[in-house]
Amino acid sequence: MRYLIISDIHSNLEALEAVLKDAEGRYEAVLCLGDIVGYGPSPNECIERVRGLSSLSCVAGNHDWAAISKIGIEDFNPDARAATIWTQKTLTTASSAYLHSLPEKIVLEEKITIAHGSPRYPIWEYILSTLTALENFRHFETPWCLVGHSHVPVIFAFRESKPNFCDAFIPPENEPFFLDPDFRFIINPGSVGQPRDGDPRASYALLDSEKGVVELRRVAYPVEKTQAMMEKVGLPPRLIARLSFGW
Ligand SMILES: [Fe+2]
Repeated sequence: MRYLIISDIHSNLEALEAVLKDAEGRYEAVLCLGDIVGYGPSPNECIERVRGLSSLSCVAGNHDWAAISKIGIEDFNPDARAATIWTQKTLTTASSAYLHSLPEKIVLEEKITIAHGSPRYPIWEYILSTLTALENFRHFETPWCLVGHSHVPVIFAFRESKPNFCDAFIPPENEPFFLDPDFRFIINPGSVGQPRDGDPRASYALLDSEKGVVELRRVAYPVEKTQAMMEKVGLPPRLIARLSFGW
């Protein structure tokens, strides 16, 4: 199966559309790793667009849960909190119901586990280091696990013959990377709608589960259009500015 992998869209419809256009014809099913909403100006539109994608599997992220008050926002920074309160007021009943329906984890084809943050603590845990990644390899059974949450594309590799070691790397963008069957992998496709690796372009991935090949991809989108909409609805200036730089 050829999958499109999208994560952390964060109500950025322009970025989502750019990704869908770039990936057109290259996938049969879609994996969405959560945080459809939060930060950006188009929560309902993004939910509708994602829901309408064929053969979709989607898990919940912390911002999705915060937007429907399934978790509190005390731990969010002031900007994230303000954006969440705006999102809560803006979501339609149908959008809220959809976010409520999202599971925390999904396993597909006995090959792929998907979760927002980590397989160990799906909603909250960030996998930012090889140490955390190493611990998480014990928390899923499949060869591959796909996570988002950090907004930074990365691949972690692990093999049973070296159980105390885990490698982290970023393969060259827009190039197929072969997933060696001797290893298990945790793959983060980066963020569609709010990249944080210093590159403002939308980030996503393609995965061919038959061939065992993943491709981390970047695509430019009209950032100013998203920013203008954020300004119009009164979202925090810092959240608007960061999209220009990808931080
Ligand atoms: Fe996120």
